[in-house]
Amino acid sequence: MTATDLGSAWTSIPGPDGDGLAEIAAAGGLHNYQLRLHAEYGSVVRFPLPGVPRAVSVADPVLLEPVARIDARPDALFEFLAPLQESGNLQTMDAAEHVPWRRVLLSVLAGRSSHERHFAEFVALTEDVADRWAAAGGPIALQQDLSELSLRMICAYALGAGWRSGERAGRVVAAFEEVLTEYLGRLYETDSGDGAGGVRAEGALAYLRATVDDILAAHRRDARIPGDDSDLIAALAAAGQPPARIRDTVLMIMLAAHHTTGVAVSWTLYLLAQHPAIADRVAAELAEVLGDRTPEYRDLKRLTYLRMVLQESMRLYTPGPYGAREATEDMAVGRYPIPAGTTIFLPFRAIHMNPEYWPAPDRFDPDRFAPEPSAARHRYAYLPFGLGPRGCEGAALAMVEAELVLAVLIRRFRFEPVAGHPVTPIERFVLWAADDIRVHLTPRTR
Ligand code: HEM
Repeated sequence: MTATDLGSAWTSIPGPDGDGLAEIAAAGGLHNYQLRLHAEYGSVVRFPLPGVPRAVSVADPVLLEPVARIDARPDALFEFLAPLQESGNLQTMDAAEHVPWRRVLLSVLAGRSSHERHFAEFVALTEDVADRWAAAGGPIALQQDLSELSLRMICAYALGAGWRSGERAGRVVAAFEEVLTEYLGRLYETDSGDGAGGVRAEGALAYLRATVDDILAAHRRDARIPGDDSDLIAALAAAGQPPARIRDTVLMIMLAAHHTTGVAVSWTLYLLAQHPAIADRVAAELAEVLGDRTPEYRDLKRLTYLRMVLQESMRLYTPGPYGAREATEDMAVGRYPIPAGTTIFLPFRAIHMNPEYWPAPDRFDPDRFAPEPSAARHRYAYLPFGLGPRGCEGAALAMVEAELVLAVLIRRFRFEPVAGHPVTPIERFVLWAADDIRVHLTPRTR
């Protein structure tokens, strides 16, 4: 294609002019801007984005088929994570390195044995939060407490027994929060810019790396138990991944697992607080399946309505509201040619609000996820964990974590919104409530 052909092919894709920044700010973030663009221009839209030569967003599940095969993300959008990674940015490493890394991750994260092995500890960590809430006697900030809970769960999972020794648990959690606040602050320009945050984050990052090294050394001393495929660090070491890559992986897993799972549970409880009849139906299912017991791993498959509620919440409040790929060669999306190098956005939240697939998309209706309508729907109409070779490796673990947290909390409490407290979804790497989600609790009598 000549430059002129390329220019006219590109401009045949509908989309706005301008520089993009003002429009994105006015919409309240890229996730909202994508909703507007698709409502106005249709399911394939090109749009201006500073620093990105060509950006297109595709909100039709059928048209996503060719995009789903791509195993490359654009460097520019994930550049902010590079300083966290010594061995190369795991979000954007090329397919040759990514494929074997993903295989090791899935062999542990997606496996039933690792979920079962950590289940009782996850339940105990959740019961600690519930006990604290029961004693607190005032409104609760869901997002803050549940994000911290999911960070504790992923530390227990990824770092194992070594994480719990001495005062390490609290320090690891605090250090990780420090690092994340600094890097997200830089990305969203909420950083104070005084440099002090940067220095603290450097120190916190060095502490985290030293901790993972320590745990790695302990893993080398204690030989791996034959047949045990539930330990992430051991699996990475056994696959020959170098120490720096293992440290990076642990940090990336903590990052990817923590706010996502925390907000998924927070938004679900927020919706249930507004729909008490649906909350009661979940509580009735819990009473029937569990009686007076705390949940065990084998119970989850019988908590089918709870799962439908979680799925519907992640449709409406998609924790990761969009993803991105880079076209590695010239390709077509529907009738539009897409040149190599184009950044292709996957607007997960806009796809979840596409009325062709989701009638009355604003309505909270967990029955959409009953077996029959789910089987009839296009496989890319619902993408809370993304798709294809770059889809979320932690999806199965995340569902286990979120379901068990919801089961423990809904068994114990009714939730009611705090009147007058504004709940505004904004993008902070995940779909975040700007001033948290505040609720009142009352104990459920069993
Ligand atoms: C409810 C919780 C979670 C949600 C909604 C979620 C969602 C996502 C999404 C949308 C992506 C991008 C996918 C794409 O580009 O197609 C992603 C990537 C990723 N997630 Fe998750 N995630 C969750 C929990 C987790 C957990 C618990 C882990 C690990 C234990 C994890 C590990 C990862 C990793 C490593 C990636 C990068 C994938 C790659 O580039 O190969 N996530 N996640």
